[in-house]
Amino acid sequence: MLIRYKKNFEKIAMGLLSFMPTEKELKKLQQSMKQYESEENWQLFLWKEEDIIGIVGVSSIDESNLEIHHICVNPSHRHQGIGKKMVRALKEMLPDKTIIPTEQTAAFFERCDQNQDDIKELNTSEE
Ligand SMILES: CC(C)(COP(=O)(O)OP(=O)(O)OC[C@H]1O[C@@H](n2cnc3c(N)ncnc32)[C@H](O)[C@@H]1OP(=O)(O)O)[C@@H](O)C(=O)NCCC(=O)NCCS
Repeated sequence: MLIRYKKNFEKIAMGLLSFMPTEKELKKLQQSMKQYESEENWQLFLWKEEDIIGIVGVSSIDESNLEIHHICVNPSHRHQGIGKKMVRALKEMLPDKTIIPTEQTAAFFERCDQNQDDIKELNTSEE
């Protein structure tokens, strides 16, 4: 389940964000956290199952477009579809927004779209 970031999740959120290749330096990571905490159009969401195991960070470009800046899953929970579930849940939570990746998240984001197309094709061929 996708939940909104709150200050008491700061440590876990920073730990998850630090898996982004762009957030390896503590200074950069702290800047990013500050941006999510202080700027209204920057928002962090956490993926909670029993524990919090994923994070996705977005900013709104304008009324209808949203950019994904960060997406990370705890290494112990990777390759189980959590990353794709987070992207799907974000789209479902914000159905009137167009979600686009940044250069840093494009590779995975495009992979999510690809697989959705595969599913659509499978459904069509079964009809
Ligand atoms: C990217 C990430 C969030 C994927 O999370 P996940 O829960 O393992 O993803 P899913 O299980 O939903 O999907 C796995 C698929 O994504 C692919 N994938 C993983 N990381 C990827 C990346 N950086 N670029 C492109 N594809 C990627 C896997 O190869 C796998 O493909 P498959 O379905 O054909 O086997 C996770 O690997 C992560 O936290 N990486 C470090 C942070 C990062 O680099 N984020 C930006 C990614 S562009």
